[in-house]
This record gives sequence, C-alpha cells and structure tokens, in this order.
Amino acid sequence: MVDLRGRDFLKLLDFTPEEIEHLLAVAAALKIKKHQGVPHRYLEGKQIALIFEKDSTRTRCSFEVAAKDLGMGVTYLGPTGSQLGKKETIADTARVLAGIYDGIEYRGWGQEIVEELANYSKVPVWNGLTNEFHPTQMLADVMTIKEEFGEVKGKKLVFCGDARNNVGNSLMVVSAKLGMHFACCAPKELFPEESLVAKCREICASTGGTITLTEDIMEGTKDADAIYTDVWVSMGEPAELWEKRIQLLKPYQVTKMVMENAKPNAIFLHCLPSFHNTGTTMGKEIYEKYGLTEMEVTDEVFESSQSRVFEEAENRMHTIKAVILETLR
Ligand code: CP
Ligand code: NVA
Repeated sequence: MVDLRGRDFLKLLDFTPEEIEHLLAVAAALKIKKHQGVPHRYLEGKQIALIFEKDSTRTRCSFEVAAKDLGMGVTYLGPTGSQLGKKETIADTARVLAGIYDGIEYRGWGQEIVEELANYSKVPVWNGLTNEFHPTQMLADVMTIKEEFGEVKGKKLVFCGDARNNVGNSLMVVSAKLGMHFACCAPKELFPEESLVAKCREICASTGGTITLTEDIMEGTKDADAIYTDVWVSMGEPAELWEKRIQLLKPYQVTKMVMENAKPNAIFLHCLPSFHNTGTTMGKEIYEKYGLTEMEVTDEVFESSQSRVFEEAENRMHTIKAVILETLR
C-alpha cells in the first residue's frame, strides 16, 4: 500500500516507481471526477501557501484550482511583496508558514533552497520548479504519454535541446524510474551532468529503462514515441546567453523532418511556454536581434495533429491535485 501522507515532493529521485504510478492513478481518477462535475472537496478547511520567486502560468493556476477543487484555501506569495529572502531567511519563512499552513509550494532558484525549506517545515513542501528539477511537470508529461499509448514502460521519449535544464534532468529521472527509453539530443556541453546520468543508469538497471545521450538528432529521434523540447534559455539565466544558445541549439529544433523520423504515431510534447512564433514580446525581440521566427519547435509541429501540448498543460492541474491530496490526506 502506497502511503504518501506527510511526504515532501521535491524531486522524483526521492520516489519509488510504485509511488509515482500511484500518483498517476490518483490523478487519472481525479480527472474523471473533474470532467464529470463530481465534487471532491476531500481537504475542506485546509490551507496552502504558494511561493513563486519566478513567474508562472500553468503551475500557479494548477495549484490554485487544484486546492480550491479540494475545498482548500490558498495564499499566493509572488516574486515581490513578501519578506522572503530580503529580510527573512528560508529557515525562518519555513517555520512561520508551517505554523499557519498545511502545505507549502515553492518555485524558485537552487534545489538546495526547496530542500532547506522542507527541512525546516513540519508540513509537506512541493517543488514547483527549481533550476535543477521540475517534478510536478513530469507527472503531467507521463500522464499524457500514458493516455496516448496506454502505458509508459518501454516507450521511447526523446528530449531535444538544453538537456541539463530542470525539464531535461527531470525527464531523464522519470524515464529511468518508469522503465522508459530516454534519449537526449543536444550538443555535448549541454548534456546532463554525469553524476545524474550515472544515478539514472543505476535506476534503469532495475526498471529496464535506458539512457542515450547523442549529438545526432536524427539518430536520437529515430523511432521515438514522444519528442519533447523546452526553451533554449531558462528563467533566471542571463539574456546574453541567447546568442550562444541559438548557435548551439538551432540544429536541435523540432521540425517536421524530425517528427517524421519518429514513429508514425509519435506525439510532440512541451512543458510550455514555447517560442514557436513571434507572437510574444520576447519572440519579437529574438526575431529583431537574430532573425528567427521560431525557436525550439517550428510553428508547424506545435500546431500539428501530433502535438499534445494543451492536453499536457491540462494534466498539470490533475497531477498537482493528486500530489496535494496524497501528501495531505
Ligand atoms: N510548464 C510550466 O511550469 O509552466 P509555468 O511556468 O507557466 O508554470
Ligand atoms: N526550463 C524552463 C521550464 C519552464 C517551465 C525554465 O526553467 O524556464
């Protein structure tokens, strides 16, 4: 019997395959309830705090709606407006909030910060994205793959782009945990850290998963079931990096040709937000500076019938609800 009551949700390395599968099953059941309009206010009267030191649309909205659907109250603490970091340490903030709330979400900088928050908090802490990991995103991604193919074990998931960012790292971990074949296509200098690769390969030994790192996008994406990409420069990284990253990652853009190299029924995934056109302020700036109208994925692929990015985004809410429910029930 899986029992996650009182647990933190900081990175998937801390969870067994069985625990991850359990969260996916709970999320699937909650999704049905939500779609059928069946009330599920299982945590009536509880309260949670959401700390966001970086911007968010999906993660914030998912935590807020999930909490409200479960009958809970929510307080949002944004990048400005609280004492955190400026006048109050993480350790003090953790102890203050844990006295008032039943759970705390944190999105921000280093993984060590969310780990410290959890160390000092007597209530569960959930990682809403750090520089190193994005574990709630993974549950939504795997749920989307499962919905498409019925299972995840043995499926080939390929990440193209900055493979040592939070999403690249986390996809490698979840693939190892669930016995998927993970390939990352990136220039060597953007491969995930060797120690994390080694850890994931060790996990694969018992789950049947595999990890492949390659600089050759056609070799890496061959016969893929799902192709995934993310922005080339992540939140918090300096804007000066764009020029270098464009140079390094342009060959790893997910195009129609790349999708055609995968299995015929392959799907395209992206955590979002995505630069697939010039419809945003940043998209326009990049176009003016570097002449690119699309970056990590072409608009054609993003808008294609193979794209599951909006199903994936919806699944953020159902999976986050499962994490809140299972850790606080
Ligand atoms: N995918 C994701 O985490 O999106 P937000 O930054 O909008 O939360
Ligand atoms: N790698 C991206 C993910 C956003 C959801 C970032 O950290 O900005």
